[in-house]
Amino acid sequence: MSFVRKTANLVPIVDTVFSIVKLAQKDKQENGPEQVVDATIGSLYDENGTLVAYQSFFDHYNQIDNKAKAKYASSFTGNDSFRNQVVRWVFHDHAPSLCKKVIATPGGSGAVSTTFNTILDQNETVILPEIAWGSYKLMAQQNCLNTAVYSMFEEDHFNLSSFKEVCIQVLNAQKKLLVVINDPCHNPTGYTMTHEEWKEVIDFLNECSKTGPVILLNDIAYMDYSYNLNEVRSYFDCFEALNENVLLIVAFSISKTCTSYGLRCGSAILCGKDPEKVREVEIVFEKAARATWSNIPNAAMDNFTWVTTENLDNFLAEKQPYIDLMKQRSDIFLKEAKEHNLSVYPYKEGFFITLQIENELKQKYHEALMKEHIYTVQVNQGIRVAICSLPVDKCYGLAKKMKDILNRLKAAH
Ligand SMILES: Cc1ncc(COP(=O)(O)O)c(C=O)c1O
Repeated sequence: MSFVRKTANLVPIVDTVFSIVKLAQKDKQENGPEQVVDATIGSLYDENGTLVAYQSFFDHYNQIDNKAKAKYASSFTGNDSFRNQVVRWVFHDHAPSLCKKVIATPGGSGAVSTTFNTILDQNETVILPEIAWGSYKLMAQQNCLNTAVYSMFEEDHFNLSSFKEVCIQVLNAQKKLLVVINDPCHNPTGYTMTHEEWKEVIDFLNECSKTGPVILLNDIAYMDYSYNLNEVRSYFDCFEALNENVLLIVAFSISKTCTSYGLRCGSAILCGKDPEKVREVEIVFEKAARATWSNIPNAAMDNFTWVTTENLDNFLAEKQPYIDLMKQRSDIFLKEAKEHNLSVYPYKEGFFITLQIENELKQKYHEALMKEHIYTVQVNQGIRVAICSLPVDKCYGLAKKMKDILNRLKAAH
């Protein structure tokens, strides 16, 4: 006898991060922190190994009146001021002239999972990147969806042929597409697509939409850490070309943008040519919101709006040095990786760099690294190095050490 629903998946979540974080902490206690390279944690940390929490964000949050914190939001879809500001913030000067509706969600997670459970019916297939944030698969599973994956890269660029091939297969089978693209600053490879790649994706999805509805979920969780903030949003201009059978859903999160992972605030931006169709999706999202989390913390929404308008200069001035810091960390690691022939996926920007390691060798390599006090996270076809939390001095010499350990492991096989 079981108490849970018949379709429940009873396999416990495989925890690939927190168990390794704990091992790294234990090693630091036993052998001293200077001996240990801890590249596990996926949040922004400063050079002293401390979690970054922006003063320009939290000081004002702490001053918000208790009653404003206590209050429900003004609507299940979020406060209007927040919803309007999200559109301004996400697109800046690159808002495509599509109809746009915003639903506030608990982080980007809420936007992605609601998309999965409202867009597809059970047993349909969502298309994901092969190397990806682990929650996508879990969310698909929870919503009784199948997954198909496209290979991310062909040499050092986006694998358009794999993307097309997988989409066509799924489209032929279910006459509908839901595709996830996590760009810019892809987790965990740090890839950002070029405009040309985006244009080709959009042309292709337009073509697919002659057969059935196409929904493109663009997860932009790490966008605000691009190394080129002036340009990073310009790819949104390509969405101008979307035809009316394609719906764009942008999953936005303030977790990374504002270092407020615990505050659970983000949004899904629904964009499409036909306002009636977009409204239809909005209705379904609103009901899902109301039936799942009810509403998003009022003060979190108001604080985001204030910080990104009234306090914008201070906020950007506080965030930029951390972007520069990640650039410094990644430059060191990548330069040395190149010198020592350590293969990494094509990193451009973002929180993580991922080594190319085939799955057969990965577990053993991961263990061998830990024996040498190097802590990382296993991902599909790779080993993730979290430069978002790895101090500069620990970046020096790391690629060579990792390459030496890999060589020894390969020699032993
Ligand atoms: C690729 C990606 N998308 C979305 C999220 C959502 O995060 P949150 O729900 O905290 O906004 C994360 C968090 O790690 C992520 O890595």
